[in-house]
Amino acid sequence: MSKIAITIDGERLWVKVGISVAAALSMTSQPHCRLSVSGQPRAPFCSMGICQECRVSINGVRRLACQTLCQADMHITRSDNG
Ligand code: FES
Repeated sequence: MSKIAITIDGERLWVKVGISVAAALSMTSQPHCRLSVSGQPRAPFCSMGICQECRVSINGVRRLACQTLCQADMHITRSDNG
């Protein structure tokens, strides 16, 4: 299966074509998506687009990681306090 390069918080990562951003985040040493207002790490919970726990910034736009497939050269940023 072919791979594509994405960037997560400035770090280059090679992932298989067809995986979600949530899956890509789980491959990193810090598998959370964002920090809560109290600083607690939050991770994908429902994987169905309902809980909103997987909010990240993708190419500057707030998106749900579980509902977004990785695209080549995608820039993903974990959200703090959001
Ligand atoms: S994990 Fe629940 S909306 Fe993405």
